[in-house]
Order: sequence, then structure tokens, then C-alpha cells
Amino acid sequence: LSSFSFAAQDQSPWFAHYNPSAASKWAAALNRAGTMTPQMTSEELNNVTYGFSSACSGMTGSVPRVGWDGLCMNDAGEGVRGTDLVNAYAEGISIGASWNAELAYERARYMGAEFRRKGVKVALGPVIEPIGRTALNGRNMEGFGADPSLAGKLAAASVRGLQASVIASVKHFVGYEQELDRMPIGGNPVSVSSNINDKDMHELYLWAFQDAVAAGAASIMCSYNRVNQTYACENDAALNGLLKGELNFPGFVVSDWSGQHSGDSAAAGLDVAMPSSSYWDNGQLVAAVNNGTLSKERLLDMATRQLAASYYVFGDITSSPPNGYGLVTDYTAPHPLVDGRDPASKPNRLQQAIEGHVLVKNTNNALPLQKPKILSLFGYDGRAQMVNSPSSNTLSNYGWAFGTQVMNASVDTLLQAMVGGKGDILQSATGGTLFTGLGSGASTPAYISDPFSAISDRAYDDDTYLWWDFKSYEPQVSAISDACLVFVNDVSTEGVDRAGLADPVSDSLVLNVAAKCANTIVVIHNTYIRLVDAFYDHPNVTAIVYAHLPGQDSGRALVKLLWGDKSPSGKLPYTVAKNASDYGQLLHGSGTPVNNSQSDFSQPSLFDYRYFQANNIEPRFPFGFGLTYTTFTYGNITVSSTGFRNASTSPPNPNRRIPGGVKSLFDPLVSVSVTVTNSGSVDAAEVVQIYLQFPGEKTHLLRGFRKIEIPHGSTQEFAIDLSRRDLSRWDVTSQQWLLPNGTTTILVGASSADIRASAILTR
Ligand code: BGC
Repeated sequence: LSSFSFAAQDQSPWFAHYNPSAASKWAAALNRAGTMTPQMTSEELNNVTYGFSSACSGMTGSVPRVGWDGLCMNDAGEGVRGTDLVNAYAEGISIGASWNAELAYERARYMGAEFRRKGVKVALGPVIEPIGRTALNGRNMEGFGADPSLAGKLAAASVRGLQASVIASVKHFVGYEQELDRMPIGGNPVSVSSNINDKDMHELYLWAFQDAVAAGAASIMCSYNRVNQTYACENDAALNGLLKGELNFPGFVVSDWSGQHSGDSAAAGLDVAMPSSSYWDNGQLVAAVNNGTLSKERLLDMATRQLAASYYVFGDITSSPPNGYGLVTDYTAPHPLVDGRDPASKPNRLQQAIEGHVLVKNTNNALPLQKPKILSLFGYDGRAQMVNSPSSNTLSNYGWAFGTQVMNASVDTLLQAMVGGKGDILQSATGGTLFTGLGSGASTPAYISDPFSAISDRAYDDDTYLWWDFKSYEPQVSAISDACLVFVNDVSTEGVDRAGLADPVSDSLVLNVAAKCANTIVVIHNTYIRLVDAFYDHPNVTAIVYAHLPGQDSGRALVKLLWGDKSPSGKLPYTVAKNASDYGQLLHGSGTPVNNSQSDFSQPSLFDYRYFQANNIEPRFPFGFGLTYTTFTYGNITVSSTGFRNASTSPPNPNRRIPGGVKSLFDPLVSVSVTVTNSGSVDAAEVVQIYLQFPGEKTHLLRGFRKIEIPHGSTQEFAIDLSRRDLSRWDVTSQQWLLPNGTTTILVGASSADIRASAILTR
């Protein structure tokens, strides 16, 4: 794969690699860009390849002479970060828990429009990696959960939605699965090397990026780690080989911030260095062209890819509104009022928040609540934090959530840990309701609907009497409470992996309430896997809700679920174990803090539910699991597989390529259909999941899913197509996806462990 070379490309126009009929919009964009960039001088071309300081997270050089305004790039996946007059959408992990691609699309569409109105041209999201290989990864909440097919479909929907308005920069490519040693700083000479074999690379890590490229992603961000010993942002095999070669990616690759480590990154496939470049600035690329170490064609290509992305998404290279319009550096000073928000996004935002909640325990009919007379509320997470102020540290740099007081750590210690990429200090944000992740996954809310305010509103409607104590860890409890709600959280951020999968202080708070209240309902704003075995079996703990990170409509959504206006419909996008040790090697990222850390991705090769299956470990809650207020009855499945049986083993027409790779990989070969009846008494949505067990395999893996709302008493048909790639395995020898001979079992499940029907495919 590393044999890809620009020399070959130098012989032909930019778009020679792209099939003009299949990717005509790209071809047109590349064509137009290809007529513009030769009008730039070598110095101008050089200037557009790296970042200059601005109000944006990053801003590329411009060439006003030819109408190129450059690209304002800004975080992040949850909304426009660090500015005023924007919304805080639900975090990636909540969208993962929704299992709802239409919801993801609409969310991204509203979010993209906000970026655009604020003068951002490139939204730095969605996040595909980390994909949850390591349970304690501090950034798992930015992505969609621990499965390539789930992440791929939600990322593709997000790319389409964002790119209705702005360029999406899908991140972080590739093998970025731990924060430990992510940067060569703090006495650490090099970042961790993720050592990934070719098969796992294709089947687990590249998979979702392929979906994003096929969806038209116009930018990809390369990651901080090394891949097989070479930095991701100067990795010829990964960038030129896999991404631009095999996946036929026509857009531009931008480095993660300070993720560039050499000038050679240009030849290796990096197109833009952010937020600045000590390797390419001051005409260093011009010098490289002059001394023959970089081809002029490659320098042109670097700029062409950026302009093409702009033509592809905006139809133009001149910006309107101007770059950075509506981003602010000092909120205390007078500045123009640029409202990014669209009131029409409200129902979708609320729906994101609702669908991201997963109900995992519900006994004694604890939920939904029935007009409780006395309700008692406990836990530091039950009400909003005390401050939302326009200081640059909280708002501009790290997002509002940094105003939260973090247990055991001052903000300074936290920042120190972030910068060093080390330290195990984070557990719970005890300063208030956690509705967002931190770091570049932080969002900036317009307001916050916290559980307390939303429950107070409901108490007004229902004449419920409320007791509350959000302060004590051993609170007084009224013996005649109908129910006691306990709110805890589990915080995490970029730059540091989590200290543990549960924190003892929050666990004892739950147990202290449960000791005095027979109907204790636990709500956890969790960033990712949060163990509950400290209190799961307690007879007084009647219900447990993983609330995830719902964004600014957190409380409003929760009340709709707890009071039964809506049935829960979220399902876990990861596996919750009974013990942290059940994750084995997958608990921590590996490496040493001192030098040359290595993480062997084949030890083990499978992660999350496939690892649990392979090792016969019974989880507390399986991947794909979630309760609701109704019951679903699955009918028979029908499988139409004529195309599959007659299909050639290898993909036909290998030269017909679209962005995403060989076009025929995306052809549907099998169509699965199953009927599901809502046999209970309330309306609810079901997520039907299709897993495949390939010939000779012990484990099954997700390859399709669909979510549909079913009114009670009715039956709905779920039709799910499986593509050639879904049904294939990566063949290392022939370097292509091949349909396996033998028996493949199709498993239709309500979760990865709750299989309701199956069928056999043979070839
Ligand atoms: C993060 C990226 C982010 C960038 C710009 C980096 O530290 O890893 O995800 O987009 O900063 O803020």
C-alpha cells in the first residue's frame, strides 16, 4: 500500500483518480479548483497549507488576489464551541445511544447551519476515533460508540447533514485509541504507536472512515498517535495508501492541532498543518520544490484539495459570511450580535436529548412516575453549576463545562494533565449537571434545562411536593417519599484517560439514599461506560438511567422520560461489564510514560462486545441493550439473497471507483426484513439490529440497524439492506474485500445478546 506515489498522479489531472460519472460533483469541484490553483504563485500555494492565528480554532492562509479566502475551522462535534449565541447539542455518545441515523442527520444539519452563520467554513467533526477500543479513553464520548458499523452510519449521516452548510472534518485518522502518551511532550519523546495489522485496520478502524468518505466528507483530520511507528500525519501508508489511495478520498487532510512532526508530511499526504507550522512556514515548501524534494504538482495538489472541498460544499471559494464572523475573543467587550441559532432546531434538539437516554433497570414499576405526591431529589448532578460567565478560560478555550468544579482537581491541575496527556484525576464533575463532554468535545449552551428546574416545572403541573438536597453525600430522606431520584455523573475530557469506570464517592451517595428510600431511581450523566454493580442489586434501587450527555435540554428530556410522556428508546452503544477487570487489556491504553510507548492492537484484536463474546464474559448490560415502557414481539424474518448467492467472490468492476473506494462494495446484496409488533400499551420506538456470524467465527458483529417508532398495538416492518462490504471480510493476501464461502448466519436482535430470529446464508 505504501507504493502509492504522487509521481503517478503527476502525469494526469487531479481528478484522474476519481470516476467522473460516479463522483461528478467532486470531479467538477476538482476541475474548477484545478484551474484556480495554477494561478497562485508558489509562495501563495505554500501559504494556504498552514494556519495563522485568528478567532477560529484554526485559519488557513488566503490568496485574496484570486478570490481564495482561506478556511476558518472550528470545533466541534457538539455545536460551535467557545462562542456566544449558539446551541449545545447532544454529545456524540448520546447520538450513538439513539441508534437513529435520521436524527443524526437532522442534528448535523441544524448544527452545520450554525457554524455557517458564525463564519466557520470547516466544522471539526464528527468523531469516528476513538471508537472505544479502550474503556477508559477520555474521549470516547465524542464518538458514537464501540462499533464500526454504528459509527460509520451515524458519521455518514452527520457528514451529509453538516455539509448542507459547511465542510465536515472527520476525525481522528487513524488508530487514535488512548489519551495516554498521545503527544510527544512532558518528557515523552514520541507519541504512542498504535500497531495495527492490515485485517483489523480494514474491518475495525478504517471501516467508518470509509462510510464518511463515501458520504462525501470533504476533510479528514489525521491524529496525534503514530500508526505502526510513523506519525499518523506523516504516514504515507495511511494517508496516501489507505485514505487517498484505497478510499479514493478527494478532499484535504488537516493535521490535528500540533500533530505535524516533519516537513516530509507533505509528500506523505498531509495537506494542511494546524494551527501553524514550523516545518512549512516561511516558504519552506517553496524551497522544497526548488531543491527537488517535493514536486510542484504535490504543492498544487495540497491547495487544489482545499479549494475543491470549498467548491464541493459551497459552490464557491469566496466566503459569505466572512471567515470568523461571529466568533469572539473577548466576550466582556462590545461585539456584534451574530445569532447562530435557528429556533426550528428545538424539537430535534429535544429529541436528541431524549433518545440518548438508556433505561437499564426498571423494577416494581418504578418508572414511569405516576403523579408522585412527594418526590425527593439528591446528588451534586441534579442542578446546574453556579457560573456561566464570559471569561475566556471557561467559554472561549474549553467550553462552559470547565466552569464545573471537578472533584480532586483544580482547573489548573486539569489543564496541566490535559497538556501532558497523563494523570488519572478525573471522576465526577461535582459542580453541577454534566450535559457535555469537556476538551474539544465541550459545547457552549444558550441556557441549561437542568433536572431540578425541569422537575420543578412538572411539580407545578402535578402539585407534587419536592424535597431536595444536592449538597450532602449522606442526606436526610423523608420516609414518605414516593420516590427518591439520585443524580450523579462521570466526567471525562480530551488529554487524559479516565481514572476508573465508577467512582466510589458517587456510589456511596447512591447507597446512602437507597438505605433510607425504598424507591431509589438513579440517573447518571455518564460520558461512557459507567459500572453500576456497587448498587445494581440493591433491592431499593428500582431504576437506573444512563442519561449520557444530552446538551442544553437535559432536564426537559429527562422529565419527559421519567413521567412517561415518551418511552425510552436509547440502546447502549458499548458493553457495560460487571467488573472493570472484565475488560482485560482493553481497560487502559497501553504504553509507558517514559519513552516510545507501543500499543499492540492485536492484544486483543476484538474489542467491546466481540471481546466479551469471544471470552465468554457475561456483561452486566450487553451492547445494544435498553429497556422501554412497552414490549415488542418479533415476527419471522424474510431474507432475499439471490444476489448474494450468485455474486462473484470479489467486488466486480474494481476500477469503477467513487469516494469511499470500489463502487460495487456499496451494492446491496442481501435484504433482511422483519416484522415487529408493539404488544404493550404505550407508543415506543424499537431498534432492530442485524448481526452477522461469518463462517468459522465464534463471535457476531453488527452490520445493520434501523429504528422505527411503533404505535402500541401496531406492527411495523423493518427492512435492512446489507451491502457487499457488510457481507465480506478483508482478505490480506489479495488486498480486497471477499465474500466468504460457507455459512454466514444472520442474527436479528433487540441487542447483541438478545437474538430474536436468525437465518442462514450459504455460498
Ligand atoms: C483535538 C481536536 C480539535 C483540535 C482543535 C485538538 O487538541 O484533538 O479534536 O479539533 O484540538 O481544537
